[in-house]
Amino acid sequence: MNILIIGSGAREHAIAVALHRSPQQPHIFCCGTSLNPGIQQMAFHYWVGDITDIATIARLAPEWHIDLAIIGPEAPLEKGLADALWKAGIPVIGPKRELAQIETSKSFARELMKKYHIPGLPRFRRFNTLEGAAEFLAELGDDNYVVKANGLMSGKGVKVAGDHLHSFAEAIGFCKTILAQGQSFVIEEKLLGQEFSFMCFSDGEHIVPMPVVQDHKRAYVNDKGPNTGGMGSYSDANHSLPFLTEKDLHCAHEINEAVLRALSTELNDKYIGILYGSFIATRNGIYVIEFNARFGDPECLNVLTILESDFVGICQSLIAGNLSGKQVRFAHKATVCKYAVPEGYPDSPMQNAVIDIAAVKNKAQLYLASVNAVEGKIFATGSRTAAYVGVGHTISEAEEVAEKEIRAIQGPLFHREDIGTDSLIQRRIDEMRRLRAGQL
Ligand code: AMP
Ligand code: GLY
Repeated sequence: MNILIIGSGAREHAIAVALHRSPQQPHIFCCGTSLNPGIQQMAFHYWVGDITDIATIARLAPEWHIDLAIIGPEAPLEKGLADALWKAGIPVIGPKRELAQIETSKSFARELMKKYHIPGLPRFRRFNTLEGAAEFLAELGDDNYVVKANGLMSGKGVKVAGDHLHSFAEAIGFCKTILAQGQSFVIEEKLLGQEFSFMCFSDGEHIVPMPVVQDHKRAYVNDKGPNTGGMGSYSDANHSLPFLTEKDLHCAHEINEAVLRALSTELNDKYIGILYGSFIATRNGIYVIEFNARFGDPECLNVLTILESDFVGICQSLIAGNLSGKQVRFAHKATVCKYAVPEGYPDSPMQNAVIDIAAVKNKAQLYLASVNAVEGKIFATGSRTAAYVGVGHTISEAEEVAEKEIRAIQGPLFHREDIGTDSLIQRRIDEMRRLRAGQL
């Protein structure tokens, strides 16, 4: 079987590892933006180019006799790569363009939730002009709003009051910047609580949940510094998180399910792929921050590392529409993922520094990301460089492994030492307890 992976980051490296473990021994093909040696060593064929060049990929894939494609990042989904590959007769894990709007259009996602009465929706309003924006900001109140560009803006499209915006004037300024880029925007109520990622597989009919993960967006220790693509993440042995209740999980799962049903009714099509609900547990219950139409990065690394079932089999069932919960088994282990990133990341990262991974002991759980291999050397290209996933009976055990191994990578890189540590986990638990008790 020939399986094509689109993308060449750590998420796609983890996808490749999961496929490579399969007893079905597929031939792995990769379309990537750079040469990731981690993926390359497992690949039968590796193409480097523009992964949003839909026409070229849709022409090459049939020539390579691809049986199944898995799309990692959101950009090709937004461009309609899934549509083009299906049209070329190739089944795809990853929704078609219209369905992917659940991620690519903030207003589509919010309006869909409203239309189908899905719980977890904050107060929001969409805007195509500035008209009414100042009034709505004032209605939400000082420090109680979030402004979001409607479309993808590579992590720069969301600004939160108190964090990035310090006055109504600054908020209106950001609205103007978004409009100047030809985008519309959404203003919504700011939610206070603990964020978590709840991903599930969907074959268009059935939905199967994955372990819940918490990501860390801020660049520096103690959640300081600028927002990033995600500096690391953890999951617990019971597949929940230490600050969540059974009821929280149940609510979030029901929301994912309701959104998938709403999408297929609204667009009269099947959502085949991963739905990733980004939730926040607040004093008043579970709310939705956003949805993504793909695996999270780093969350994908946490879950695929402990996937015990045959990933190729899961992909086949996603396409055949006969996915069942029994088929998707994760080890009851905790995971901690830490990313090493170039000095200066994310604002002015060092470019093209050589890194050396030789001292990493167990490379099976090392996932390379934004790197390029040239003549036997690995260059860090500027975005997140490499991630290590520690696995253990407890989060604490997993953290110890991840910390030791990520430190072993040589080069001008840094990572967050606090991710997954007992003290940070305890802080999350305490914050949630105080929030629920009305003390925050
Ligand atoms: P997004 O691109 O929608 O994931 O937003 C990026 C980050 O902005 C999220 O991870 C949250 O930390 C924050 N954020 C987005 N929406 C809200 C909201 N309604 N309330 C509080 N924080 C938010
Ligand atoms: N973990 C954040 C993302 O994948 O968007």
